[in-house]
Amino acid sequence: MATAASTTSAAVLASRLLRRSPRLLRRLSVSRAPPAALASSSGRPLPPLARHSLGHRARMGHTAAAAAAASEPALGLTKPNAIEPPQVTFSAKDVEFSGWKGDILAVAVTEKDLSKDADSKFENAVLKKLDGQLGGLLLEAAAEEDFTGKTGQSVVLRLAGQGFKRVGLIGLGQNAPSTAAASRGLGESVASVAKAAQASTAAIVLASPSGIQEEFKLTAAAAIASGTVLGLYEDSRYKSESKKVHLKQVDLIGLGSGAEVDQKLKYANDLSSGVIFGRELVNSPANVLTPAVLAEEASKIASTYSDVFTATILDVEKCKELKMGSYLGVAAASANPPHFIHLCYKPTDGNVNRKLAIVGKGLTFDSGGYNIKTGPGCSIELMKFDMGGSAAVFGAAKALGQIKPPGVEVHFIVAACENMISGTGMRPGDIVTASNGKTIEVNNTDAEGRLTLADALVYACNQGVEKIIDLATLTGACVIALGPSIAGVFTPSDELAKEVTAASEVSGEKFWRLPLEESYWESMKSGVADMVNTGGRQGGSITAALFLKQFVDEKVQWMHIDMAGPVWNDKKRAATGFGVSTLVEWVLKNSS
Ligand code: BES
Ligand code: MN
Ligand code: ZN
Repeated sequence: MATAASTTSAAVLASRLLRRSPRLLRRLSVSRAPPAALASSSGRPLPPLARHSLGHRARMGHTAAAAAAASEPALGLTKPNAIEPPQVTFSAKDVEFSGWKGDILAVAVTEKDLSKDADSKFENAVLKKLDGQLGGLLLEAAAEEDFTGKTGQSVVLRLAGQGFKRVGLIGLGQNAPSTAAASRGLGESVASVAKAAQASTAAIVLASPSGIQEEFKLTAAAAIASGTVLGLYEDSRYKSESKKVHLKQVDLIGLGSGAEVDQKLKYANDLSSGVIFGRELVNSPANVLTPAVLAEEASKIASTYSDVFTATILDVEKCKELKMGSYLGVAAASANPPHFIHLCYKPTDGNVNRKLAIVGKGLTFDSGGYNIKTGPGCSIELMKFDMGGSAAVFGAAKALGQIKPPGVEVHFIVAACENMISGTGMRPGDIVTASNGKTIEVNNTDAEGRLTLADALVYACNQGVEKIIDLATLTGACVIALGPSIAGVFTPSDELAKEVTAASEVSGEKFWRLPLEESYWESMKSGVADMVNTGGRQGGSITAALFLKQFVDEKVQWMHIDMAGPVWNDKKRAATGFGVSTLVEWVLKNSS
């Protein structure tokens, strides 16, 4: 993992930097060692920014100082290991399951599929045939293991003398999957039995294939495939030992075959790699994933898919020129300088009918600032996930770089920084001025996300886009309102709400629209500035959304997504990759 530059001693680094920037040396002498580049999911370490080469359309606005910072060893000496994300080939086949050869044949069964006829045999044709082939083993096993087909149940049997080494029964509950979320769940269950059996090859067959509506089969196939890949994936980059993923080939039987479904399965793979990338960004701790490293990761997407992407990274000086006082106020306390990140996607043929922007909150850490997060339940130790919005943005960018949709231009915008405490930091009561000229009295430094988004939204509007979606882990209040797995959605546009609802039905991610209640703006008024950044405790997610609205051009269709709950899976103690799938689906709906 070590790059040449990362082994350079502090003294050598300091003298090298002094030649470039005496101001930076002063800063280095009081600050911690800057971080190492994050390992990529492709397994290769990232090259230092200075040596980074981008496609011919790329423009890099960052300084040599930032370049040096991104290539230095991480605080705590932590460097992520390079791990291969699961590489699974999916094939949709119309074949007879009984002749399939491989490690595990996974049969998805509903509770009804298990009902017996007068002779106490399975009524269901698939189960009857399989049970016959296995000499009644399936019936016995289902009874002995008390397998009733409930969601989440599974039984796996090791066989001898069959083409397949194992057969697994996977419970679907009362019905065959009729939503993307349920199909994804099936894929996850298959991943878990395949993992336990260390299978390299698997087949998935439904006991009642006719239970899936014809027009839903393509979506189901894609969702089962992405559920399988995402279920297999475990982020072990920060563990000293990692488990190997064995599964390589999965055959989907009974969901059709041919070019259309093959294309959907490729899409599922592209999408999954974006979700995994998003999860890795969020899982990375703040001592490794600094704003500079996040910018580096974004630049890498641009260079990997240089036929469709350009990258622009703005440093502090450039942000000052653009008068981003609100964003820079938040960044001011940190030893890790802010990086404003802008990727632009243009289709290969250059024809554009729609222009979109996706803006993500990119707080690589949120301590709260002077209004420091204290007390039980404040979750300060989880605040590395406060860049979850930006992870959704770059996860979607990575997927779209592979899918390459036509007719749509997409701007991916993140004002990345860290909310820390120091003598150079923002005080409660300070007044900052955003890039649209509006002034904000900062009555709470912990309401920092909206301050960074303010300047990011102004910048997005200046790109001449028709629609903007922003995603942010913005308020604890949203988690109180909707719980851990549903994101709050705010938009004045019914049309945009409809589009995103349609996208979420395909992605399986959960959203709930909340009101932009204008009368609540009363609590956001300041005696000395245009507004404060925090209203009262009541309706905290709504006042946050109303604040963001102040920075969006009225001509632009805008949606704010508060994903403070679904960014993190408490049970798995890991990131979810939330937002990536819905964003990709939304961009595809806007392509032509
Ligand atoms: N990043 C937090 C929001 C958050 C809190 C996300 C808990 C996930 C879990 C945000 O910057 C924040 O601190 N918001 C404050 C706003 C308050 C000061 C008005 C909050 O929610 O407490
Ligand atoms: Mn905060
Ligand atoms: Zn925050």
